[in-house]
Amino acid sequence: MSVMRTYLNLDLSGKTAVVTGASSGIGRAIAEALAEAGADLVLVGRNEGRLQETIAAVRERGVEAELVIVELTDDDAAKAIVDAAMQRFGGLNVLVNCAGIFEPMPFETQPLESFDRQMAVNVRAPFALTQAALPYRRPEVAVVNISSIAGYAGFPQSAAYCATKGAVELMTRALATELGPQGVRVNCVEPGNIRTPMNAAQFAPSREYEKPLEETPPLGRIGETEDIAAAVVYLSSPAAKFVNGASWLVDGGWAAQ
Ligand SMILES: NC(=O)c1ccc[n+]([C@@H]2O[C@H](COP(=O)([O-])OP(=O)(O)OC[C@H]3O[C@@H](n4cnc5c(N)ncnc54)[C@H](OP(=O)(O)O)[C@@H]3O)[C@@H](O)[C@H]2O)c1
Repeated sequence: MSVMRTYLNLDLSGKTAVVTGASSGIGRAIAEALAEAGADLVLVGRNEGRLQETIAAVRERGVEAELVIVELTDDDAAKAIVDAAMQRFGGLNVLVNCAGIFEPMPFETQPLESFDRQMAVNVRAPFALTQAALPYRRPEVAVVNISSIAGYAGFPQSAAYCATKGAVELMTRALATELGPQGVRVNCVEPGNIRTPMNAAQFAPSREYEKPLEETPPLGRIGETEDIAAAVVYLSSPAAKFVNGASWLVDGGWAAQ
């Protein structure tokens, strides 16, 4: 007997999702989770070998997928991505701006080039891609930006990174107000510390970085990429049809303390 699902429709079958940062870490998990929800995918990254691993993982889940290998800071990157979505799938329903970089450094010594680089990938690229995607959107569109707890709270050696994630938060809210009337929902997810290649250098040298992260959050563990992916599927889905302009902390309760 089939069960009627009125309250929790997470089904993305027949929809197309674009995911940047799909070659690694959180973006790969998001791509796999969206595939499990039924979405066809446009997977964006720079490293072809790792993108091929993601494409194999999503195809195993029975959906179609296309790769776009681009440097997101190039001015023509956004067009290349939406062109691929159009040509392969005829439009898009979900855009997940996940690609990002983190260059922690003491404020006194951080070069302006490092500030500019983080702004270009973390803020300018999602701005450009969201703008380029708009003409190709289908009805029921969701944009999910991946911010950070660093967009919620300040951290030492992270002034530039925090500035970029704070900008993502307010860009999300501004777009939610401007695009909401056109049926475009824009939300962001603020992951806590998640073990990925991005922070491997911090985790690697000793347990000094890791131990407090395991002990401090109320849930007593470091986050996994799948924790973030589940939140993104919900925000992308029809179940979240009244959620717009939200910043969703997924941090095991760290910020609640
Ligand atoms: N890990 C955490 O603890 C954490 C916490 C909060 C928020 N976040 C955020 O979550 C997002 C994903 O982070 P992650 O931990 O999964 O990092 P990651 O494993 O280092 O992955 C970063 C992704 O971004 C892509 N990327 C970076 N610069 C790019 C560029 N210039 N052009 C195209 N693609 C580019 C990378 O592509 P290639 O590898 O193909 O070059 C890769 O797919 C980021 O926005 C990050 O700020 C992470």
